[in-house]
Amino acid sequence: STERTLVLVKPDGVKRHLVGEILSRIETKGYDVVELKMLTPTRQILEQHYAEHEGKPFYEPLVEFMMSGPVVAAVLEGNRVIEGFRSLAGTTEPTAAAPGTIRGDLGRDWGLKVQQNLVHGSDSSESAEREMGIWFGA
Ligand code: CMP
Repeated sequence: STERTLVLVKPDGVKRHLVGEILSRIETKGYDVVELKMLTPTRQILEQHYAEHEGKPFYEPLVEFMMSGPVVAAVLEGNRVIEGFRSLAGTTEPTAAAPGTIRGDLGRDWGLKVQQNLVHGSDSSESAEREMGIWFGA
């Protein structure tokens, strides 16, 4: 069925000039981009977005990394787009992500405290609703 999902191009993706490449892969796959904006996120927005990771060892470095520069936030729409975008993105660790995916083709493990893995995509319909509210409002 038709779904919506929240996607972020993280600061590493913007700094490496991969925004066009990443949006191109999304559009070539056939998903509709229905919302799109660039912003440097505040700590407040990231504390909401990453609430489930609070207390984990990578939480504070993750928030600092995500505040380090502009990100691109988008809402995608399409049949099974939540699973579909995660499939396009590849697994969390760029070293392990399959070639053909965004992380597998474009990402690397830089040996830092946080996986700088270029993109975020909502992992369920509940997360998608919550995250679209955080980044784009009701
Ligand atoms: P994402 O799935 O967008 O949301 C959680 C993020 O935390 C994840 O992407 C990675 O950037 C980062 N992350 C997840 N697990 C680890 C880990 N074990 N070590 C470092 N960073 C992680």
